[in-house]
Amino acid sequence: QELQLNLEQIEKGGYEHFMLKEIHEQPNAIFDTFRGRLLSNEALVKLAGVEDNMKKFLAADRIIVVACGTSWHAGLVSEYIFEDLARIPVEVEYASEFRYRNPVITEKDVVIAISQSGETADTLAAIKLAKSKGAFVFGVCNVVGSSIARETDAGAYTHAGPEIGVASTKAFTTQITVLTLMALRLARAKGTISSSEFRHHLIELETIPSKVEKALKSDAYVQTIADIYKDATNFLYLGRGFNFPVALEGALKLKEISYIHAEGYPAAEMKHGPIALIDENMPIVVIATKKGHYDKVVSNIQEIKSRKGKIIGIVTEGDKSVKELADHVIEVPETIECLTPLLTTIPLQLLSYHIAVMLDKNVDQPRNLAKSVTVE
Ligand code: AGP
Repeated sequence: QELQLNLEQIEKGGYEHFMLKEIHEQPNAIFDTFRGRLLSNEALVKLAGVEDNMKKFLAADRIIVVACGTSWHAGLVSEYIFEDLARIPVEVEYASEFRYRNPVITEKDVVIAISQSGETADTLAAIKLAKSKGAFVFGVCNVVGSSIARETDAGAYTHAGPEIGVASTKAFTTQITVLTLMALRLARAKGTISSSEFRHHLIELETIPSKVEKALKSDAYVQTIADIYKDATNFLYLGRGFNFPVALEGALKLKEISYIHAEGYPAAEMKHGPIALIDENMPIVVIATKKGHYDKVVSNIQEIKSRKGKIIGIVTEGDKSVKELADHVIEVPETIECLTPLLTTIPLQLLSYHIAVMLDKNVDQPRNLAKSVTVE
């Protein structure tokens, strides 16, 4: 028993929980994921699984993404990235809905299945269905040799390393990294991005690990915010564009480990319902980075403020407008719009982590949840 405990301590590498360790591993995990694949000097992206099947990708009428939970959120981020860079229509599906819906799938569809564990039952079933209809299925998995990695026609691994905490953290950011590389490679092949823009994206992506490192420095400040709001019974998370899925992911993280009810919404949808919830007791996390609908998000923040909601803004370094309105702002370094999710996710992971610790919850193994959901 004692030996087991000591072993676990060693595995946690000095961190109190696996989740915190994995949050802090993200700079390296993202680097490992693009290492050898992103060659900025040569202006190249090399992904064998994409290269070998380029014809299928280029002939695709659309991409259908199937996944569950956090992996589904990464898929939703990729919808914005693929459509913006490579101009390929993308549909993002919950694997559990897709598999039972009698979906229209043709041989001209490319299906991307995203899964950290590679063992999620619904995602596996969605893959089998898509294959039976003749679609080409590409996997984005973390666990090497997993069922989904074996079942798919081709794929690209994330190189996040083992993720032990039930709450997915580094799997999410490395999935976005792989999907961004894929979108960039396809954009180049399709000619939907200029060579200078392509290169600019590669150089920016290369700076992300050090920017994540910087974003992690907000840890102590996020802890003070966690202390103020840990007893709230509801949270709202808002974001637009590339950061709408990040709002969903932030809410999921809080729900699953702290058991506080939280909802993620596209910021503009607020006035179609959730605004009725806002009063002085409601903390609202708003992702309001400089790139991407900034002015529109600022006016959403004004609407929240006039209803006395408590605003926690996730902003770009040096931001002024949100700072004037929000109760708290957490800064992340500046980057190009499509890469902002890799940075804005970090303080949301830390916020949920600290709240759960303060509420004395089982952070790494929350009640009722399993790391991989191998049954329906
Ligand atoms: C994330 O924090 C969750 N624990 C859960 O939503 C998870 O992402 C989902 O079950 C999918 O798992 P997979 O990536 O291993 O397929």
